[in-house]
Amino acid sequence: MEVQGLMTLPRFIIEEEKKHPEATGELSALLSELALAAKIISLEVNKAGLVDILGLANAVNVHGEDVKKLDMYAHHTIVKAMDHGGHLCVMASEEEEGIIPIPAHRKNGKYVMLFDPLDGSSNIDANVSIGTIFSIYRRVSPDGMPGTMEDLLQVGTEQVVAGYIVYGSSTIFVYTAGEGVHGFTLDPAVGEFLLSHHNIKVPEKANIYSINEGNYKYWHQGLKDYIKYLQAAEDEGRKPYSARYIGSMVADIHRNLLYGGIFMYPRDKRSPNGKLRLMYECNPMAFILEQAGGRAINGKKRIMEIKPEKLHQRVPIYIGSKNAVDTVEYYLRKAEEEGNGEDEE
Ligand code: AHG
Ligand code: MN
Ligand code: MN
Repeated sequence: MEVQGLMTLPRFIIEEEKKHPEATGELSALLSELALAAKIISLEVNKAGLVDILGLANAVNVHGEDVKKLDMYAHHTIVKAMDHGGHLCVMASEEEEGIIPIPAHRKNGKYVMLFDPLDGSSNIDANVSIGTIFSIYRRVSPDGMPGTMEDLLQVGTEQVVAGYIVYGSSTIFVYTAGEGVHGFTLDPAVGEFLLSHHNIKVPEKANIYSINEGNYKYWHQGLKDYIKYLQAAEDEGRKPYSARYIGSMVADIHRNLLYGGIFMYPRDKRSPNGKLRLMYECNPMAFILEQAGGRAINGKKRIMEIKPEKLHQRVPIYIGSKNAVDTVEYYLRKAEEEGNGEDEE
């Protein structure tokens, strides 16, 4: 699409849908509802230092972690914005152990959504970027009925739309519907998301790596070798990569998407499945990075081809510029061939 003048998120989605005569406009409506939720969350995030919303809510989430009040606020805002539009038949969130049904008196629609309402929540108190991540599928169960776990546990390649919102120095809504990746920055004065990043492609030349290096001693050999390679001195003919790690996956990956780089949350000797969740963190980010020309793997295979078993399942992830992911894959395989593989140690 040739983009001229100001383009709002709803208008852009409608223009995109026009390319598909069979489209019903439901996806546009669904994304508009989500954009509304994002604006409300953004407002609350920006107020966080001003109102008594900081601190712990004296609750733990399904993973046994402390839940900040803002996590729950974001969770409830998204559920409230999305459960009555008639487009979804079931939802799942990081902050809820089971499935989230559509209320009984509401229409069950043809889509399914999984989301991480607030990613990077340990950063809230420090005014550091946080975000929301979402993943949308078409239902596989019969139309009109309440959605099921089977609708939610689809393989990542079946995603119809995926995206994220970063609440940072500005608020940006980034999504893909399988035809490129587009970013919309919130103009707080007019309250609209305006197209700011059309057809984002991740730079091929990566020079940033993002990983929690504090876990070094638990890493397997292949990863240690790869990080050593990234840090190689200029006398080896290359500049070392720069290390950048915010601790909000959504913000770390957004930066690397724009600048070129690799984000990793590997498996290690303490966490055999890494930390991040397949269904509402890794799959949506993988769809976006692949659409932007990058790659996302769990070390051995494409994230989006992993057959999900559980809603909250964790997977290791290596995601970013294609060359960088190719190289880490090479180092992991090399260690395995030399008998230092992750399963051997
Ligand atoms: P969440 O706030 O949704 O629980 O996710 C936090 C995740 C992710 O955003 C980030 O990349 C990672 O945790 C950071 O983990 P470490 O503190 O172990 O590095
Ligand atoms: Mn998260
Ligand atoms: Mn979260």
